[in-house]
Amino acid sequence: MPKEPKKPSSKKPQGPIQSVKGMRDILPDEMRFLERIRKAFLNIAVSYGFEGIETPILEDTDLFVRGVGKATDVVQKQMFSFRTKGGDPVTMRPEYTAGVVRAYYENGMFNLPQPLKLWYWGPVFRYERPQAGRHRQFHQLGAEIIGEINAVLDAQLIQFFTIMLKELGITAYTVEINSLGCKVCRSGYRQAVVNYFRPDIRKMCPDCKRRLKESPLRVFECDKEKCREIAEKAPQTVDHLCQECHSHFKEVLEYLDEIDIPYHLNPKLVRGLDYYTKTVFEIWPEDQAGYALGGGGRYDNLVEMLGEKMAPAVGFSAGIERLAGELKKIGAPIVKDKDIPTVFLAQLGELGRKKSLKLFEELRRAGFRVMESFGRNSIKSQLKIANREETGIALILGQKEALDGTIIVRDMTAGTQETVPLSKLINELQKRFALTETNKSA
Ligand code: HAM
Repeated sequence: MPKEPKKPSSKKPQGPIQSVKGMRDILPDEMRFLERIRKAFLNIAVSYGFEGIETPILEDTDLFVRGVGKATDVVQKQMFSFRTKGGDPVTMRPEYTAGVVRAYYENGMFNLPQPLKLWYWGPVFRYERPQAGRHRQFHQLGAEIIGEINAVLDAQLIQFFTIMLKELGITAYTVEINSLGCKVCRSGYRQAVVNYFRPDIRKMCPDCKRRLKESPLRVFECDKEKCREIAEKAPQTVDHLCQECHSHFKEVLEYLDEIDIPYHLNPKLVRGLDYYTKTVFEIWPEDQAGYALGGGGRYDNLVEMLGEKMAPAVGFSAGIERLAGELKKIGAPIVKDKDIPTVFLAQLGELGRKKSLKLFEELRRAGFRVMESFGRNSIKSQLKIANREETGIALILGQKEALDGTIIVRDMTAGTQETVPLSKLINELQKRFALTETNKSA
């Protein structure tokens, strides 16, 4: 079970209330990056045949203790766990995979045609020391394929990830890959690891002493200098793979070669979650930012462990804030929704404002993005905003126009304007925008 939380401090600072430590606001500039990532991610997910799933943020604590593994740092140190008013132990999801697997068996999804390909996107919570790229509430996107053992799918998920990076313009990254083997080869490997570290156990940190007893492979995750030094020459998983796992890994690498995805074999890559079998991988930015953009792997035993039915599976998740950070790093322009034809609707007088409200919705239905400043009365200040927002066309609906059933269409770039009947407005705008498009492509 995760450790009991410390008692809250009774000293409350005065002044405005701030966000909880490690939990941050995502402001519009970053939100634009997130929308872009979501668009690229969903485009690929849908064309690769994935369907969406969302699971509750709160799950039974036992799901993660059993699924992620009680010796992992995630369960030992990072879970936001508490009891409900009814006394049930619950945890705010520290990752998606265990919840997706629970949903899979709880909803009888094993009766659907397999494999099942699912995507997700949402908030995840880990009590970690906040720093650049590491938050206590962050967001993950991910994809899971449940019900298929073939190595081609391990490669296809890595392909999915790298294509998404390419679409986003992120090119400086490395794919790190390893195989952890299955239950059969893992026990031999685990023993080899214990034997290797045993003579040095006194020199290792308290966490690693515990790890060696409870889950020896976790030793490779330690960031303490001394433990890393001792681990330097430790046995490697790939040398302990059984025939089946060996062929599986070889096939994954051959598929990656076939689709021209370069990778780096990393024998120390064990991942921080206990459910992995066979292939594991991580994608790292090339500037060694100190964190991975995403990671995943095969988890052929998790479905059976949590739901009693056997179903092999493979998946990945990526940290959305970290991807957004990469977009910022490469100086990706913040694209506003300029590809949607945008007009500014300015109004004057009570009647003009009333009619504008209706016209706003008509324009939206006709496919235009409409900006306005209904709270303002002065035309000058409204046109100033239209200028600032760079909407090429402003529509002016004053008292006179409202009575006549007309509207002024102003070309903000040329500074010219003409009055057109309201009934012909949509037509007129469509013509003007078609013209602009032609000019752009000429
Ligand atoms: P994970 O490696 O624990 O894997 O997390 C996936 C990604 O979430 C990381 O590579 C990182 O980009 C992001 N991430 C993790 N912790 C933080 C944090 N504190 N702040 C910001 N971003 C963070 C999983 O969660 C597995 N469920 C992946 C998977 C799916 N395996 C199979 N299917």
